[in-house]
Amino acid sequence: MITKHQTYFFTPRLGYGKEANVFAISPAHAVKVTHVLYDRDETVERFQPVLERHRLFYSKNISVPKSEGIEDVKIRHKVTRFGFDHGSRVGLVMQRLYGVVGLNVDSSLKERVEDLYEVEADKAWELGYFSEEGLFNSIYVPLEDKLFLVDLREWRQISECSSLVFENHRLFRQEQKERRNRERLSK
Ligand SMILES: Nc1ncnc2c1ncn2[C@@H]1O[C@H](COP(=O)(O)OP(=O)(O)O)[C@@H](O)[C@H]1O
Ligand SMILES: [Mg+2]
Repeated sequence: MITKHQTYFFTPRLGYGKEANVFAISPAHAVKVTHVLYDRDETVERFQPVLERHRLFYSKNISVPKSEGIEDVKIRHKVTRFGFDHGSRVGLVMQRLYGVVGLNVDSSLKERVEDLYEVEADKAWELGYFSEEGLFNSIYVPLEDKLFLVDLREWRQISECSSLVFENHRLFRQEQKERRNRERLSK
C-alpha cells in the first residue's frame, strides 16, 4: 500500500546528500529515499535506527522534522530530458520543511542560525549525541525562525565513540564558540 501521506503524482526533489534523495510527496510531507537500491527489508532495517532517533530527539524537544514512519511511496521525478525516474520505493516519511540549508543562509542570518544550532546541539549533547557535520545537516525555516536538524544518522552516540573522537569534538566545539565570539566582538 502506498503511504497515506502521498498526494503528489509528481515528486519534486527537495535536496540530496551522500546517502539519499529527499522528495516532496505532499504539501506537508517529504520522503528520504536511498540512492542505493537495497531490497525492501534491508531498506527498512537501515532506516529503523534513524526513525527511532527522530522519535527520541523529537520527544526531547530537539528541533527535528516530525517523522511519520518507514513507508512505501511512488517516486516520479524528472531526471533527464528524456524521462522520469519512477518506481515504488520505501523511504523515511517525515514533515516537509520549507527552508534553506543552514550553511547556505544569507549572511544577515548567519549569526542567528549559528545561535539556533548551538541550542539544538547542546540539547543533543545532553542526550548523549554529537554531530561533526554541523549546519550542513540543518534546515532554517524563515517563516518560523526555526532551525531543524536533519540527517539524524550523522548524529553519533557519545558513549559509542572512542575518548579521542569525543575529546576532539569537544575541543572543536569550544574553538568554534571562541571563534564566533571573537568575530562578533570585532564587529
Ligand atoms: N524534512 C525535509 N524537508 C525538506 N527538505 C529536506 C528534508 N530533509 C532533508 N531535506 C533536504 O534534503 C537534503 C538531503 O537530506 P539528508 O538527510 O542530509 O540526506 P543525506 O543523508 O543523503 O545527506 C538536505 O540537505 C535538505 O536540502
Ligand atoms: Mg546529509
